Amino acid sequence: MRPDVRAARPSEAEAVLETICAAFDLDVDAARPIFYADPYYDLSHKRVLALPNVGIVSCLTVVPTLLRIGGIAVPAAGVAGVATHPAFQRQGFAATLLAATLPALWEELGYPLSFLHPISAPFYRRLGWEMASSILPWSAVPSSLPRYAESDFVRPATSSDWPAIAALHTELTHSATGTCLRDSRRWQLVRMDVPGREAFVYEDAAGMSGYVVWERGETLGVMEMLGRTAPARRGLASFLARQPEPVVHWASSAAHLGAFGFSSANKRPEPDIMVRPVSLQGILEALHTAHFGPILAENAASLTFLVTDGLCPENARPLRVTPTGVELGSATDRSWLRADIQTLGPLLMGFRLPSEAQGSGLLTTDSPETLMLADRLLPLRSPYVAPLDQS
Ligand SMILES: CC(C)(COP(=O)(O)OP(=O)(O)OC[C@H]1O[C@@H](n2cnc3c(N)ncnc32)[C@H](O)[C@@H]1OP(=O)(O)O)[C@@H](O)C(=O)NCCC(=O)NCCS
Repeated sequence: MRPDVRAARPSEAEAVLETICAAFDLDVDAARPIFYADPYYDLSHKRVLALPNVGIVSCLTVVPTLLRIGGIAVPAAGVAGVATHPAFQRQGFAATLLAATLPALWEELGYPLSFLHPISAPFYRRLGWEMASSILPWSAVPSSLPRYAESDFVRPATSSDWPAIAALHTELTHSATGTCLRDSRRWQLVRMDVPGREAFVYEDAAGMSGYVVWERGETLGVMEMLGRTAPARRGLASFLARQPEPVVHWASSAAHLGAFGFSSANKRPEPDIMVRPVSLQGILEALHTAHFGPILAENAASLTFLVTDGLCPENARPLRVTPTGVELGSATDRSWLRADIQTLGPLLMGFRLPSEAQGSGLLTTDSPETLMLADRLLPLRSPYVAPLDQS
């Protein structure tokens, strides 16, 4: 049976819903309104694997995202809801769906990069995804947190606060790698009526300068907390101290935790999202003007990427990055870097340095000078993808 992998057709919306519900063990009638009300609902972004005489057995959803690398927003496909009907699992259908969807992410939908939160890293690694961000788990007993008078300036967010919250998010995250440029659909999801989800803002005489989104359950789970000023950060942190839950959790970046004075000294970072370049040329071009071009011009240098990729053959063409742009290179170019696509994803995100990958035997260059240049072009950037951008 030769599977057909493509975008879902309008007549297949219910079959997609049924496949998702069967795989995730959800009630179809309860899930239906949520499925159709999803602000990102778009059948061109629901990819399916259909078998002749059977229909859809496997599907996934592509979530449109602009993921920042440095200050540059790169169009990225968030891959979510990968699902195979239980009757067809462990026969390679999800792997086939993902492998055939990869080239389409660029050719049909225009995303040069893809990312996902993996259920099983080895499964996605076989298809070229690799870990490219981490989170630090932090937790505390609320009553043990310091208390400041500024917590009096924290109040529940109202609908009129959301434009200012969105502007504050953009202002405070615009240069951080892994943050997403949120559109109104993303904010609609953030504000969604999830059980226990609440938002509060810090507002003093100078205006609104901080917010927190959390989910109450047996414990208090902070989803996101940002403050522009020290009083806002003190106010929000000590507002946590006033909550009744026995424990507050926040898995975040060292930078976010540090800004609120929360120590993550004894915590080990946990792997979080995986990335996979879909069009290397597309990513290199997106990063060229603001980043690669000036560094290469300063060094009067170029760098050719010699990459292996079994699923997206375009990535296996030599690509030369010069001070003026990205062009087809040649295997005989002088300054080159050789790696497989899986190694390259974390380097492009700034999760690892090229020299570190070389030390692990995953990358070679023609000379130590080229390796130094590669480290300048692909510096460490501590990527962190906020939980509110991951679903
Ligand atoms: C995960 C899932 C999509 C895999 O679909 P599939 O068609 O069976 O996948 P394939 O046959 O191509 O590959 C199977 C591989 O998936 C991985 N896998 C499947 N189920 C898994 C699970 N529950 N936990 C971890 N890994 C799992 C394994 O690596 C497995 O390889 P193995 O059989 O060699 O151990 C399917 O099991 C499913 O729909 N699960 C429920 C929904 C879900 O959790 N989706 C993923 C999160 S978005």
